[in-house]
Formats: sequence, C-alpha cells, structure tokens
Amino acid sequence: MRLAAKVAVITGGSNGIGAAAAVLFAREGAKVVVADIDADAGRARVAEIAAAGGEAVFAACDVGVTDDIKSALQQAVDTFGGLDILFNNAAIQNTRSILETSDEDFDLSIRVNLKSVFVGIREAARLMIAQGRGGAIVNTSSSFAIVGSPGYAAYHATKGAISSLTRAAAIGLMEHGIRVNAICPGTIDTPGLRRGVATTADDPAEALDRYLALQPMKRFGTAEEIAQAALFLASPEASFVTGENLVADGGYTIV
Ligand SMILES: NC(=O)c1ccc[n+]([C@@H]2O[C@H](COP(=O)([O-])OP(=O)(O)OC[C@H]3O[C@@H](n4cnc5c(N)ncnc54)[C@H](O)[C@@H]3O)[C@@H](O)[C@H]2O)c1
Repeated sequence: MRLAAKVAVITGGSNGIGAAAAVLFAREGAKVVVADIDADAGRARVAEIAAAGGEAVFAACDVGVTDDIKSALQQAVDTFGGLDILFNNAAIQNTRSILETSDEDFDLSIRVNLKSVFVGIREAARLMIAQGRGGAIVNTSSSFAIVGSPGYAAYHATKGAISSLTRAAAIGLMEHGIRVNAICPGTIDTPGLRRGVATTADDPAEALDRYLALQPMKRFGTAEEIAQAALFLASPEASFVTGENLVADGGYTIV
C-alpha cells in the first residue's frame, strides 16, 4: 500500500475529486479526515471507506474560515496521531465573465479558493515541522491556470495564483522535508461540473456536448483519474518531485 501509516486531510472530500481521493487514499492505507461543508455526503464517504476496511472521520470545515482549517488539521492529530498529507482541494467555481464579476464575487473566490490553500499550507506545515517527519501537500489548481476562457474570471485568477503559490511554498518548505505540488485537472465529470453547467446554460445537455467536443480525447476525465494523479504526488514515489504542477487534462492544454 502506497500510503501505509500516513494520515491525510482532504478538503472538499465529500464529493467529486476530493471524494475519489478520500476513497483511493484510504484504500492505499492512509487514515483520512474528510473536511467539507457537506456533512451528509462527507459522512457517506466515511461510511464507504469504513465498509471497505479503511479508516476515516468527517470534519465540518468551511475552508474560507481559518479556524475551520486549523481544527480539521488538529482533528487529524487528535484522532490519528499526526499529519502527513494535506490535499487542498475544495473550491467554488464562479462561472462569470470579467464584465459580470462583482467585487463580492471576486473576494469570495479569493477567500474560498486561494486564501484557503495558503492557510492550509501554512498551518499544515507548522504541524508537520513540529512532528519532524516531513510531509506532502497537494493543491488542486486547474488547466484554467494555464489557458484562458470567456467566463470564470475570478476562478482563473485563483487557480493561476495557486500554481504560483505552489512553487513558492515548495521552495520555502523544502528544508523541512515538506513537498508541495499541484494538480491541474482539465474538464472532469463531477457534481461540480454538472452543477456549473446546469446553473449557467439554457440547455445543459447541449452545453455538455459543446464542452465534450473541445476535449482532445473526446471524453471528460473522471474524478478517479485525478485522484490517481494526487496520489502519486502525495506518495513516497514522488519523493524527488516538488513545486510541480501536474497537468491531467487529456491533452486539453496542448492543442
Ligand atoms: N471538475 C472539473 O472539471 C475541475 C477542473 C479543474 C479543477 N477542478 C478543481 O477540482 C476541485 C474539486 O472540484 P470538483 O469538480 O470535484 O467539485 P465538486 O463541486 O464536485 O466538489 C467540491 C467539494 O468541495 C466542497 N466545498 C465547496 N465549498 C467548500 C468550502 N467553502 N469549504 C469546504 N468544502 C467546500 C463541496 O461541498 C464538495 O464536496 C476544485 O478545486 C476545482 O476547482 C475541477
């Protein structure tokens, strides 16, 4: 098992990519804290992991609130005896264009998507340094950190900043044996993607077909495929990898 005896906190672990990572990390031997605002789905994820013989707990956590992040990380220490991995994955997807984005939209995206990653890295690193056994932090950026699009103005800004922050944190924490990397998913079939399409498109089915036509592989990625990329970066197999933005997008950004 690739994460045997490791303790992992996964934000946004109740649904989508985070949920797939919670299940996968637990299958690979990690004890998992599922940190999310969606308690029902989070508890379902914990039950799913337990039914498969793994160990997990749910932490009620709004990543836009510093104290919530701190208490989710502390829960890992209190329940499982330490912290080895933080997957900074939760985010909101504001679909608005630059002209439609209000100050409030922008501030909210910065707080929930970006500041959460900064606070998560800082607080996890403090705990990891005190433990003295290093650690691995994985941040969820996006292919939208690399290419532009007509909408998602605030979202693009936060993801670009996460990719850059990942490099800075990797250098800053290297001396403590803490690796910091990011994944840049392309279009992934998750509840978040479908919710975004349903709330913005007049004809969601037609919009999904349009997105599909843009995919070089002629399909969307799955949450499990992104969880596998996060697993690699979190695992000892990536021991010489830090500051990397691993693109998992079916070729979306290379065409
Ligand atoms: N799906 C895609 O196409 C795609 C592409 C690139 C990047 N991403 C990124 O992947 C990550 C996961 O996206 P997803 O598609 O799985 O989304 P999702 O909406 O399916 O799941 C997101 C999870 O985050 C939780 N969450 C939302 N706000 C939160 C908050 N304030 N505090 C704690 N938890 C919160 C939700 O409850 C949910 O469980 C995000 O960072 C997203 O930006 C997704």
